[in-house]
Amino acid sequence: MTSTTETAEVAVIGGSGFYELLTDAERVTVDTPFGAPSDAITVGTVAGRRVAFLPRHGQGHRYPAHRINYRANIWGLRALGVRQILAPCAVGSLRRDWGPGTVAVPDQLVDRTTGRTQSYYDEGAVHVSFADPYCAEGRGAVLKAAASAGAEVRDGGTMVVIDGPRFSTRAESQWYAAAGWSLVNMTGHPEAVLARELALCYTSVALVTDLDAGIDAAESVAQDEVFRVFAANIDRLKELVLRTVAALPTSRDCPCTHALDGIDPPLELP
Ligand code: ADE
Repeated sequence: MTSTTETAEVAVIGGSGFYELLTDAERVTVDTPFGAPSDAITVGTVAGRRVAFLPRHGQGHRYPAHRINYRANIWGLRALGVRQILAPCAVGSLRRDWGPGTVAVPDQLVDRTTGRTQSYYDEGAVHVSFADPYCAEGRGAVLKAAASAGAEVRDGGTMVVIDGPRFSTRAESQWYAAAGWSLVNMTGHPEAVLARELALCYTSVALVTDLDAGIDAAESVAQDEVFRVFAANIDRLKELVLRTVAALPTSRDCPCTHALDGIDPPLELP
C-alpha cells in the first residue's frame, strides 16, 4: 500500500458499467506482491461499514476479463482489511425463464477458463475446500436486502465461467444449458477461488444482460446489447448491493473464515 492508512471491511468489485459506487470516498493506491490491482481502490462508508470499491476492469474497461490481474485485486483488498466481498457482474442466461434484467445469486460455479492463474500458492500443500464456492452468509444478505427492497432475486443457480473475450458458440451454450447450468460469465473465476484461498467471504450478484446464444436461437449475443442492458439496470443493482452491505453480518464464523484452518500457507497473508 503506498499512500494511506485507510482500511475497509467489505469490498465491492464492480463489473462493466459499475465504475463508481461510493460518494465522498478516498482513492487508495495499493501495490501487492502480484502487481497492481486493476485500478485505485476507493474507500468510503456505507450504512456505518467501511467499504472498498474496485472496478474490476479498471477505468474505461482497460482490462478485458482474460487480462485482469485477479490475484492483485483480491490480495490488495485483503491488505486494506477487507474480509467480505460482494461481486456484482453481468451474465448471460442459459434459461429462457431468466430473461434480461433478472438478478440471481448463484450458489454454484463451473470453471471453463484455461490458462488463468488461479492460486496464490505455488509451493507447499494448500488445498482449500471449494464445494460451496460462495459465502452462505453473503448470499443470505443479498436475499434479505432484496426482500427489504421488494426486489425479485433468483436464489441459486450455477454460473459457468468462460475465458472470453468471445461469447459462446451455440453448441457450447446448448451444452451448458443441457448440463443444467443457469448463467454464463467471464469474470467469476478465478475471483471466487482466490478469495477462498485468502479466507475471504465472496458473494456473486449476477445481472442477466442477455439470453445466451444457444437459448435464443434467433440471435447471437452482441456486446452493445450487453452493455445497454447493464446500463439500464445499473441503478437497481447498485441499490441492491448497497442494501446488502447493510445486511452483511458484522462478525464472521462461516466456513470461508476457516478456509485455511489446519493449513500452513507458504505466504504471509496481509
Ligand atoms: N456476460 C454477459 N453476457 C454474457 C454471455 N452471454 N456470455 C459470457 N459472458 C457474458
